[in-house]
Amino acid sequence: MTKFTSFLLIAICAFLCNSAQATSTGKELLQGEARELAWYDCPANSEAKRRRPRRFAHCRCMQGFERDEEREACFRTVYLTVNNLSYMQPFSPFLVVVHNHYAPKLFVPGMPGPEGLGAIAEAGNTTMLEHVYSMDDNVLESFVGTNVPANANGTIEIRMNSDYPLVTIAAMCVNSNDCFVALNGAPIYNGAMYYEPAWDAGTEMNNELCTHVPGPACAAGTGNARTEMGEGFVHVHRGFQGINVGRTDLTEDELGANGEPLGSMYDWRNPIMLVSMSDAMM
Ligand SMILES: *[C@@H]1O[C@H](CO)[C@@H](O)[C@H](O)[C@H]1NC(C)=O
Ligand SMILES: *[C@@H]1O[C@H](CO)[C@@H](O)[C@H](O)[C@H]1NC(C)=O
Ligand SMILES: *[C@@H]1O[C@H](CO)[C@@H](O)[C@H](O)[C@H]1NC(C)=O
Repeated sequence: MTKFTSFLLIAICAFLCNSAQATSTGKELLQGEARELAWYDCPANSEAKRRRPRRFAHCRCMQGFERDEEREACFRTVYLTVNNLSYMQPFSPFLVVVHNHYAPKLFVPGMPGPEGLGAIAEAGNTTMLEHVYSMDDNVLESFVGTNVPANANGTIEIRMNSDYPLVTIAAMCVNSNDCFVALNGAPIYNGAMYYEPAWDAGTEMNNELCTHVPGPACAAGTGNARTEMGEGFVHVHRGFQGINVGRTDLTEDELGANGEPLGSMYDWRNPIMLVSMSDAMM
């Protein structure tokens, strides 16, 4: 064999051997994909009943979790008990969202809130944000929870699993311009206790006039207009300071239901709300 022929053979082999290798890698990949498709990984908080489950039907939910055939998933029920800790600030019905870490935050302190936060904080109107969250793939459920009755604890029932471990809730303090209470993506676990401050949505100036406050401190029909000049960012609420006490130039609609300017009895100190979580109804 000449030097040239052996060089030629080596060159041909190098080419063929390489491409053969490439083909076999390709085949393995395809087989691998096919294998994965045949497998059905049991979803969060469940385990396989058989060695090779092909469907959710062959998975079993872990203790304390219930099957949801429609969503092919296992969920746990958790009860949130909301305590209103204030003297004279009732809460409006709550926006309730169960979600994962990718869902947008309800708010970032120091930044403007999303569109729709003002509606909750100024009027207790959850419609817009409830809709926005219900359209989001990172959200398990989004609904409007029960009102927290005066002088009692309100209980909100939610579903969760380890794919959706966080909850956001929000409601208005109704004797205010734009005060709200919230859990802002709180981890859900049995025994959790969250003491929360009141927040100012930053969408309305705190003029403390009944023409701009919807709550029972004001007579029905006095209106709930939005003031100009909101602060522009979410911050810890400065409280209800009774800034109009002593004024004699207020219109009838601007006065409280008792005919006086709204006073500092509607004020509070933080925390204003306690949320306790439990696996069992309390
Ligand atoms: C609440 O907000 C929605 C949408 O933002 C609006 O269409 C609706 O009229 C509001 N509800 C009330 C009672 O004002
Ligand atoms: C909650 O709000 C109401 C006003 O509706 C108030 O009377 C009550 O004292 C507050 N606190 C508790 C613990 O319910
Ligand atoms: C509300 O819940 C707290 C703590 O769970 C409890 O101490 C309090 O008695 C409850 N209040 C009412 C009126 O049920």
